[in-house]
Amino acid sequence: MLFSPSILRSFLTVLGLCTQANAASLQTVPNWGDNPSGIAQMQIYVPDKLSAKPPIILGLHPCGGTGQQYYGMTKLPSYADRLGFILIYPSTTKETRCWDCHSNVTLIHDGGGDSTGLVNMVKYTLKKYNGDPTKVFAVGGSSGAMMTNVLAATYPDVFNAGASWSGVPAGCWYGSPISTPTSPDVSCPMGKKTYNAQQWGDIARNCYPGYQGNRTRMLIAHGTQDFAVVYSLLAQQLAQWSNVLNVSFIKNITNTPVQSWTDMVYGDGTKLHGYSIQGGGHIPPFQEETVLKFFGLM
Ligand SMILES: *[C@@H]1O[C@H](CO)[C@@H](O)[C@H](O)[C@H]1NC(C)=O
Ligand SMILES: *[C@@H]1O[C@H](CO)[C@@H](O)[C@H](O)[C@H]1NC(C)=O
Ligand SMILES: *[C@@H]1O[C@H](CO)[C@@H](O)[C@H](O)[C@H]1NC(C)=O
Ligand SMILES: *[C@@H]1O[C@H](CO)[C@@H](O)[C@H](O)[C@H]1NC(C)=O
Repeated sequence: MLFSPSILRSFLTVLGLCTQANAASLQTVPNWGDNPSGIAQMQIYVPDKLSAKPPIILGLHPCGGTGQQYYGMTKLPSYADRLGFILIYPSTTKETRCWDCHSNVTLIHDGGGDSTGLVNMVKYTLKKYNGDPTKVFAVGGSSGAMMTNVLAATYPDVFNAGASWSGVPAGCWYGSPISTPTSPDVSCPMGKKTYNAQQWGDIARNCYPGYQGNRTRMLIAHGTQDFAVVYSLLAQQLAQWSNVLNVSFIKNITNTPVQSWTDMVYGDGTKLHGYSIQGGGHIPPFQEETVLKFFGLM
């Protein structure tokens, strides 16, 4: 016996001959419900072995991207195969394929913008697959990270936690005509909108006036060498969510989860983490296990 079964399986997977791994595939869902802002597409990844009450993760693509592209940008689908959660991959074709993070309607609970259409995808999936409403999450890169912040502010009743890779605080784009790199007003991603923690907190709370329930927990990663969405926006996001979640910075843990990443722990670590990546550029590599552990799925 020259090869162990696992080595043999790796060879077969590389050759595309192993049909057992990743038997499920990305499927398009034609009608998921009210879609007031005209989001172009909903795709879904439902693993073959689903949990009894599956958790749901919404994966939000960057500007210029697609759901299909973001599906390939992280290893979350293979974790879904192992852990039985569902992934939703929406695509927008508006505003050079960037999510609307600026308009009045997207920045208000049930306002009728992209945030509402995305939540309707989650509600459709919860119903169709008997999902666990207490285990709904959002992750995204760049524009998708900005939308993750918007969803945390507008739908804290839906999202238990979010992960933002190179994002901006909720409400940061407010007042700009479009939330894209070619917008005539890029003061937000260039870090020119600076508010204090209380002000950022009020901006988030104003996205769902009167809401008193639990708030979306946040994990926020950003590279020091990000020049598309500048590094200072890590501190701005942490200011917003530390205020909303009522937790303070406690300590740094260096080289965690990998070399040159610093884990900035807030409170007891269950509600908020920042990850500062020394030398990291725009949309640092996704950290599947760190995120899934924070979500409580591993
Ligand atoms: C957005 O809301 C603000 C404040 O209520 C208002 O002044 C502005 O006209 C609204 N913009 C649009 C496009 O409706
Ligand atoms: C709110 O969060 C706490 C844990 O922080 C949890 O025990 C409780 O069940 C949550 N409440 C709701 C309504 O989800
Ligand atoms: C925030 O947390 C502190 C304890 O850390 C607590 O005393 C205070 O009541 C909390 N504030 C709110 C608004 O929950
Ligand atoms: C924690 O780490 C961040 C990112 O490297 C750094 O900006 C900050 O000064 C550190 N804080 C402390 C107290 O060491």
